[in-house]
Amino acid sequence: MSGEADRPRKDLEERLKFFRDIGADFVFKPERGISKATTDGPGLDAIREQVLDCRKCRLAEGRTQAVPGEGDPAAELMFVGEGPGRDEDLQGRPFVGRAGQLLTKIIAAMGYDRSQVFIANIVKCRPPDNRVPQREEAELCTPYLAAQIAAIRPKVLVTLGKVATDFFVPHAFGGMTSIRGRFYEWNGIPVMPTFHPSYLIRNEGNREIKKMVWDDMKLVLARLGKA
Ligand code: URA
Repeated sequence: MSGEADRPRKDLEERLKFFRDIGADFVFKPERGISKATTDGPGLDAIREQVLDCRKCRLAEGRTQAVPGEGDPAAELMFVGEGPGRDEDLQGRPFVGRAGQLLTKIIAAMGYDRSQVFIANIVKCRPPDNRVPQREEAELCTPYLAAQIAAIRPKVLVTLGKVATDFFVPHAFGGMTSIRGRFYEWNGIPVMPTFHPSYLIRNEGNREIKKMVWDDMKLVLARLGKA
C-alpha cells in the first residue's frame, strides 16, 4: 500500500506515537455533550458579531480580523489561551498555528474532536509581534470571554499558560509548575491551569512537561466523569 491508501494507518501510527510521547496510557471516547438550556445573556452568535466589530482597544488597529473563538456552543470542556498569533489573525480562528496543532492533538488524545469543545482566548485580536497582552487590553476584552462562558456554561475550563490562568486565578502564587495540577474555581466552574502548548513546543524534548500536561488532562477527564 502507498499514498492515500496508507493515510488512515499513518494517522493512527502518528496518534499512537503522540500518546506514547505525551505519556498517555489510554484513549477516551466521550459521548456527545447534551445540549444545555440557554442563558439570559447574549448568545454566542451575538458575542461573535460584537467581537468582530470591536474597536475598544488599540489591538483592533493591527489586526487582520478578530478571532472570537469556536467550538460546540454546549461544550462541556473549554480551553482558553492567551491571544491570536499570526496564523489565527489571518484565518480568524483560534489555535490553528503550530501551538494549535499540538492543542488539537491533546484534545484528540483526550478522546474529543476539536468541534466538541470550545476554544477561545483572553484577547481576541493579535498583539503586535505576538507580545503579551497588556493589562488594559485584557480588561477591555475579557467581558467577551466571560459572556462566552456564561452562554456555554462548560463543566470544566482549562487555562493554557500564565496569561489565561491569571484571569481566572488572579491570586495564584508562583509559576505554572506550582499552579498547575489542581482545580481552582471561577464563578462556580472548575478551572484547571496547565502549560501553554507553545511552552511544550519550546521544550520539545522534555517528557516531564508533557507528562504534567497529560496528568492535568487526566484530572480534567476524571472531573468530567470520563475516567
Ligand atoms: N496561542 C494562543 O494563546 N492562542 C491562539 O489562538 C493561538 C496561539
